[in-house]
Amino acid sequence: KSYEFIQTTEPRPGVGQITLNRPKALNALSTPLIIELNSALQAFDASPSVSVVVLTGSDRAFAAGADIKEMANLSFSEAYTTSFIESWSYLTTNIKKPIIGAVSGHALGGGCELALMCDVLYCTESANFGQPEIKLGTIPGAGGSQRLTRAIGKSRAMELILTGKGFSGKEAGEWGVAARTFKDYDELMEAALKTAETIAGHSKVAIRAAKEVVNKSQDLPLRDGVEYERRVFHSLFGSEDQKVGMKAFAEKKKPEWTHQ
Ligand code: HXC
Repeated sequence: KSYEFIQTTEPRPGVGQITLNRPKALNALSTPLIIELNSALQAFDASPSVSVVVLTGSDRAFAAGADIKEMANLSFSEAYTTSFIESWSYLTTNIKKPIIGAVSGHALGGGCELALMCDVLYCTESANFGQPEIKLGTIPGAGGSQRLTRAIGKSRAMELILTGKGFSGKEAGEWGVAARTFKDYDELMEAALKTAETIAGHSKVAIRAAKEVVNKSQDLPLRDGVEYERRVFHSLFGSEDQKVGMKAFAEKKKPEWTHQ
């Protein structure tokens, strides 16, 4: 399928890549772009040939935010009755396969929020993250105040969101926002695709369960989360791949997953 504002490819076995591609506006996340993004995510999530999705932008910009020109004249009632921005949550609420975000350049406002929604985040050291909404007379609206605060703590998040000042990819790595940081875009993409390929080599049933239980840690109190994990862990004794994996270990062989 061809899109106007994004590109999709399957660069490695089991890996689907979505590249935000609206260079004239530094990948500003307009409603038409988000509709395409959700459609591509849905297609990869349903595709038997894809186990992991890599989401990236260009060397210069992951995304410079929600489209300011589109929002400028929005009224309260329009925003409210159309549930403006709600469709952005599709990535976190509907997609069951892991998403690796690979950020280079600007990841501002909604772009930073989109990056924070990814399951694993990689970035370049020089990436430019930030929640500058306060400088536009508004606040983060796609989860930034919640996800950034959980990622880096209240004091740092409060400082960033109130001043509108950015933080570098290097800081994102040091603070644990990003799992790993890289010198340049090429190294970043190579590592993101390699990690995606590693994940895609595992059982689809186990990958899905692993993402599900880690995400529960963000919503549940510890005791409930541990119990939830144990229930899902128990349920995997009902999968074929648990038998395949443990038998292969005992026989010193490579497991041949049935994905059942
Ligand atoms: C619409 C945008 C845009 C945006 C950049 N552009 N960001 N258009 N929405 N968020 C457009 C510019 O208008 C310009 O178009 C072109 O992209 C290139 O941008 P320049 O500003 O000329 O580039 P540069 O000087 O390199 O500066 C890069 C920048 C700056 C520092 C990233 O563009 C910038 O500050 N952008 C806005 C960042 C921001 O405030 N994001 C938060 C948005 S609010 P023309 O036509 O002039 O060439 C938000 C709300 C989230 O995200 C809450 C709900 C999700």
